Amino acid sequence: RYSLASLLHLKVSPVTFSCNLSVWDSDEPVPRAELLKGVAGAHGLLCLLSDKIDAEVLDAAGPNLKVISTLSVGFDHLAIDEIKKRGIRVGYTPDVLTDATAELTVALLLTTCRRLPEGVEEVKNGGWSTWKPLWLCSYGLSGSTVGVIGLGRIGLAIARRLKPFGVKRLLYTGRQPKPQAQEVDGEYVPLDTLVRESDFVVVSCSLTPDTQGLCDKTFFSKMKKTSVFINTSRGAVVNQEDLFGALSSGQIAAAGLDVTTPEPLPTDHPLLSLKNCVVLPHIGSATYSTRGVMSELTANNLLAGLTGSEMPSELKL
Ligand code: NDP
Ligand code: DGY
Repeated sequence: RYSLASLLHLKVSPVTFSCNLSVWDSDEPVPRAELLKGVAGAHGLLCLLSDKIDAEVLDAAGPNLKVISTLSVGFDHLAIDEIKKRGIRVGYTPDVLTDATAELTVALLLTTCRRLPEGVEEVKNGGWSTWKPLWLCSYGLSGSTVGVIGLGRIGLAIARRLKPFGVKRLLYTGRQPKPQAQEVDGEYVPLDTLVRESDFVVVSCSLTPDTQGLCDKTFFSKMKKTSVFINTSRGAVVNQEDLFGALSSGQIAAAGLDVTTPEPLPTDHPLLSLKNCVVLPHIGSATYSTRGVMSELTANNLLAGLTGSEMPSELKL
C-alpha cells in the first residue's frame, strides 16, 4: 500500500509548515519500482537499511532532493559518493542504539559459547537423560582473551560489558589506536595477532570496501580451534562459505551472527544446519525504547534537513 501525498502538518519552531508525505505503510521493504516512482520530486527521503539508495534512486528523485535520513547508524546501503556529489545531506542514528546493540552482542556471545540453543533443544527432545560430567561443555569468558574488530561506539560498549565477566586480555584492531580503549585496558594489535590470540573474536566494525569479506578462509584458519566468532556488524564482512567450512571442519568452535548475507537468510542455508552456529534476524537495536528514540531522531534529522537547519545527527560526508 503506497499512500501518496497524504498531508502532514509539521511544527518546526518557530514556524509551522506543511509538506506532502508519501508513506510506504508496511513493515515489508518498499518494492524497488514503488520507491523509484514514489521518490520522484521529493525534497527528503526517510529510508531503512534495507533500502539501497544508489544513483538510480537519486536520479529518480531528481534535483529537489536535499536530505536523506536513515533509521540506522550503518550507512553502507547509501551510495555516499553519489550523495555527496549531489550536495545531499545525510542524517543517521549513532549513539542512541549503542547500548541495545552491545547488550544483544553480549547475549549472542553467551548464547553461542555456552551452547544454549543446543541445551534448550535437548530439554525439549528428550536428549536430557541425566547430569553428565562432560555433556554440553563449552567455553566461558573467565580468564579469556577477547578481540574486538572495530572499537567504535558499539565495540567499546561491548568491551565495557564483557570485562566484568573476568576477561583477562582485551585486544582490538582498527584503523588507528583509540584513547578511549584505556577504559577497558584495550591493547591495540594488528588483525593477525588479534585473530591468532583471541578466544572470542567479536566483529563490530562498519562495512566498507576494506572490511568487506575480511573474515575469510585465511582469517578463520588463524583462529584457535577453541575460539568463538561473533558478528553483529554487517553480514558482508564475512565470507559465509568460508565460515561454514571453518565451523563444519572444527577449525573454530562456534559462531554467533546477528547479520547475514542475504537478509533474511534462506531457511535452507547450510549455516542453519550447524549446531555450532547461532543466527539471529538482525535484532541488535530491537528494544522498544531504542527503536522509539531512533525513529524520533530519524524524523528530526529529516525535518532539520528540509528546513536547512542543524541536524541532531548529521553524517559528515
Ligand atoms: P562507529 O563508527 O563508532 O564504529 C565503527 C568502527 O569500525 C570504528 O571503530 C572503525 O575504526 C572500525 N573500522 C572501520 N574500518 C575498519 C577496518 N578496516 N578494520 C577494522 N575496523 C574498522 O560505528 P558504531 O559502533 O556506531 O556501529 C558500527 C556498526 O555496527 C555499524 O556500521 C553497523 O553496521 C553495525 N550495527 C549493527 C547493528 C545490529 O543490529 N546488528 C545495530 C547497530 C549497528 P576506526 O575508528 O579506527 O576507523
Ligand atoms: C544499524 O542501525 O545500522 C542497525 O543495523 C540496525 O539498527
